[in-house]
Amino acid sequence: MNDKQTEIFFQIHQSLPREGPGSSESTKNAFLKMIDLPQNPNILDIGCGPGIQTFDLASLINGKITAIDNHPVYVDELKQKVFHKGLSDQIEVINADMFALDFLNTNFDIIWVEGAIYIIGFENGLKQWRPLLKLEGYLAASEITWLKPYPPDELKEFWNTGYPAMQNIEGNLQIIQNCKYKIIDYFVLPESSWWNDYYNPLEKRLQIMQKHYHDDAEALEVVNMAQFEIDLYRKYFDYYGYIFYIVQKLSN
Ligand SMILES: C[S@@+](CC[C@H](N)C(=O)[O-])C[C@H]1O[C@@H](n2cnc3c(N)ncnc32)[C@H](O)[C@@H]1O
Repeated sequence: MNDKQTEIFFQIHQSLPREGPGSSESTKNAFLKMIDLPQNPNILDIGCGPGIQTFDLASLINGKITAIDNHPVYVDELKQKVFHKGLSDQIEVINADMFALDFLNTNFDIIWVEGAIYIIGFENGLKQWRPLLKLEGYLAASEITWLKPYPPDELKEFWNTGYPAMQNIEGNLQIIQNCKYKIIDYFVLPESSWWNDYYNPLEKRLQIMQKHYHDDAEALEVVNMAQFEIDLYRKYFDYYGYIFYIVQKLSN
């Protein structure tokens, strides 16, 4: 994507409720898998985006949440929302790069990554962020995963280009073990998690953008690519999905 197309991409994604599949119910389900947490656990929320899961987590704990994202608009908007909800003592929002989190001189009880670990790569994220976790700390990550073998060619081609490291469940469980975490649990996000707060509002936005940019080929390319991703899910949702993996660090 050139600079203009990156701008169109962010226009498409501006102020959507979520920036990836998810739901408050799934966030809570994943959180409840973590047992024997300290009374006030501190959480690092990586790739927080608009921050729905940040607020869901804040409603589940009394501890502090450090929410990081590298897109300044999401960071500023989330800071505003935190302020208006009166949660500035509980949630700190930082503009930071998930590839370079060494500056955080805290060890966290929980690392939370909804729909964002693919950016650094599942294996890389598990490895790089391990030192940021306390012993017996948990990491919860939702990750796009193949659910069925032999995907149709157009689907395989799309994800082989977009995310060639995408695994099936067994592959990710193996990675978790290789990275020295204990698998606590994992579950598939329901299809509604793709539609309600993500693809439905995104598709509405795309319809508006298609009209607005009808004679701008560069812009339309970005809009059509996003629509193509949605159409693929509509056709082939049984081949892939988001899995919430909940893992624990049991040794240093
Ligand atoms: C798919 S969205 C998920 C956002 C949010 N967790 C959600 O589920 O709505 C991925 C997020 O990662 C952020 N991101 C992308 N690259 C990043 C990086 N290098 N460091 C930190 N955040 C990044 C994006 O700005 C975006 O908010």
